[in-house]
Amino acid sequence: MDIAVIGSNMVDLISYIHRMPKEGETIEAPDFKLGCGGKGANQAVAAARLGSEVLMLTRVGNDVFADNTIKNFEANGIDTKYVLRTDATSGVAPIFVDPESHNSIIIVKGANAQLSPEDIENAKDDISKCKLIVLQLEVPLETVYAAIRFGKEHNIPVLLNPAPAQPDLVLAEVKDCEYFVPNESELSLLTGMPVDTVDDVRNAAGALLEAGMKNVIVTLGWRGVLWVSNDKEVLIPGTQVDAKDTTGAGDAFIGCFSHHLVHTGDVEASLRMANLYAADSVTKLGTQTSYATRDDFLAAFPDQEV
Ligand code: RIB
Repeated sequence: MDIAVIGSNMVDLISYIHRMPKEGETIEAPDFKLGCGGKGANQAVAAARLGSEVLMLTRVGNDVFADNTIKNFEANGIDTKYVLRTDATSGVAPIFVDPESHNSIIIVKGANAQLSPEDIENAKDDISKCKLIVLQLEVPLETVYAAIRFGKEHNIPVLLNPAPAQPDLVLAEVKDCEYFVPNESELSLLTGMPVDTVDDVRNAAGALLEAGMKNVIVTLGWRGVLWVSNDKEVLIPGTQVDAKDTTGAGDAFIGCFSHHLVHTGDVEASLRMANLYAADSVTKLGTQTSYATRDDFLAAFPDQEV
């Protein structure tokens, strides 16, 4: 097994709107899409579509959404042994995308809120065979911290995407991650520092290195991605595309980065590919529906090696 994703799944309810309604107002939206989402599931699906073997540890509810989520994991070749049914509703995410392709997301965690450190313990024989553990923050923080400790104990590198932004995240608990991958606003919240310019981002990322992080990778949307470590700094410019829907682009980036990293060990090459993969995803509507398979990606970018 290549990658263990320990995290969330959601049902995405995406409304394409002209504008947000005012208080007390009802407005009509021109389009709607129902899809599988959740940051953990999205990252797992992106990596699996590119050819990685992925194990998903997550909790679904006891409703029809759960059946569909499990079918979707299976259809993408993801190991569902640890997709755990829970006496709760499945996680859902009402999402609003405006004509400039900006999104606003509400998450209702449902069963995801019950993913526990014991669930990791119960899956330890399989997780310990993986080459990378991938985490986000749509499940309880104690579970995220337990997964990081598990990675350290078993000598498995851990990638943490601190999304959605969580003011309660304790840096001392997550500093042992090999790869810490925030976007600008998450970086600003965690450090209390400005991120208006690339220099600002560099300084804020530097503060995380001082706090003990090894590799800080900041996704900057259309501006690209900045990777800083104690002996290296690489700024990869963004790929300019005609964006239709940016929902889930960060997850596409992490899924692709994780896939390429476990197969090559080359961080910079993995970042370049992930940058391209995420840019390709924003040209299509939806979250997972916008993630290319390996064949589609190679057809669009024939000079890449995935
Ligand atoms: O990152 C995008 C994801 O955030 C969506 O799929 C939604 O479910 C929320 O988790």
